[in-house]
Amino acid sequence: MGPWHALLSYPKGGRAWIGWSQGLPPAGERLGGQAFLLLFREGPRMLLSAAPADAQAPTSMAMLPDLPATHHARKVLGHDLMRTPARIGAKYFYDQRGCELFEAITRLPEYYPTRTEKALLQARGADIARSVGPCTSLIELGAGNCEKVRLLLSALQPQCFVGVDVAGDFVQAAVERLAREFPGLEVCAVEADITAPVALPARIAAEGRLVFYPGSSIGNFDPDQSMTLLRQMRTLAGAGGGLLIGIDLPKDLQVLEAAYNDAAGVTAEFNRNVLRHVNQCLDSDFDPAQWAHVAFFNAAHSRMEMHLQALQAVQVRWPGGARAFAQGERIHTENSYKYPLPLFLQMLTQAGFKACKAWTDERDWFAVIHARA
Ligand SMILES: C[S@@+](CC[C@H](N)C(=O)[O-])C[C@H]1O[C@@H](n2cnc3c(N)ncnc32)[C@H](O)[C@@H]1O
Repeated sequence: MGPWHALLSYPKGGRAWIGWSQGLPPAGERLGGQAFLLLFREGPRMLLSAAPADAQAPTSMAMLPDLPATHHARKVLGHDLMRTPARIGAKYFYDQRGCELFEAITRLPEYYPTRTEKALLQARGADIARSVGPCTSLIELGAGNCEKVRLLLSALQPQCFVGVDVAGDFVQAAVERLAREFPGLEVCAVEADITAPVALPARIAAEGRLVFYPGSSIGNFDPDQSMTLLRQMRTLAGAGGGLLIGIDLPKDLQVLEAAYNDAAGVTAEFNRNVLRHVNQCLDSDFDPAQWAHVAFFNAAHSRMEMHLQALQAVQVRWPGGARAFAQGERIHTENSYKYPLPLFLQMLTQAGFKACKAWTDERDWFAVIHARA
């Protein structure tokens, strides 16, 4: 068997990292044979067998990056930092603090996307449910705190909810809250990077899947990457399934720029926090205080951009690499494309989706689209 790790969470608390691997994880215990390990991230350490006698069905499964994958991620991060301009992938925003800062952003007066999309889901829930039809599994990609799906559960009545996110602990806590709130709903958290095809636990039926991708997160990817992602979502939804996706539409420049440049400085803190996470992943020595938040609309590409700009000359080092940044030099940290609705509907068709139905708010700021796979 090749390198493989799984994180199983049991309803009664405690999390076990179970693996069959060519090497030990950074912390773990060999149990004998090819199976090893386990340790609890919080609370007392205790050993479980790979199939504990008293185990109930796991509530979650996460494919953790195996050691070669972690090595690859470090290589990509280092390579991106050496580019001109340097880049950091948007997924690095989301360590625990980044997830919490994003939640704070969604409550800011300037940040219209979350409240606009939530209002749309609330107002159009019944229409969406009619368009979707029978839904067995609702699979949210980049689920984060799973706030938006709450607005759909009563209308869609799925048997099972799967929250997929690169921030594994954060989404795990969110699905556990959901399970307490909606007794009878089977829930599952999957820690995965959705840019690669997502593997779901075998018990998630292939029929009746609705993939949910809200938050206009598709806008964080370049158009080519978005097309690849949309095709992967169609495969994940399967024949007879569908996609429900939220997209932020082009609008007044001031509204857009204020949403990414809030007066309280929360977005600035969110942007700088990416450097702390990169330090953790790469063992680099960024000092976030040496960087200023910059956000603006790039009309040529119809996208908001976020950058970090060096306040002084900065030297950054990491194992196997180093980069000198001149004062004023920038690191490109995020794009957020704003697609006109007809263009995005065309992209869905190109990705193989059929029969798209779209709902927009009264200002035409945001759209929620249901597309059949
Ligand atoms: C902007 S937040 C949106 C959260 C929530 N879906 C919403 O609409 O409010 C993006 C979420 O996607 C997750 N994410 C970002 N990049 C990801 C990736 N490549 N794979 C999986 N999850 C990712 C983040 O951890 C975060 O929870």
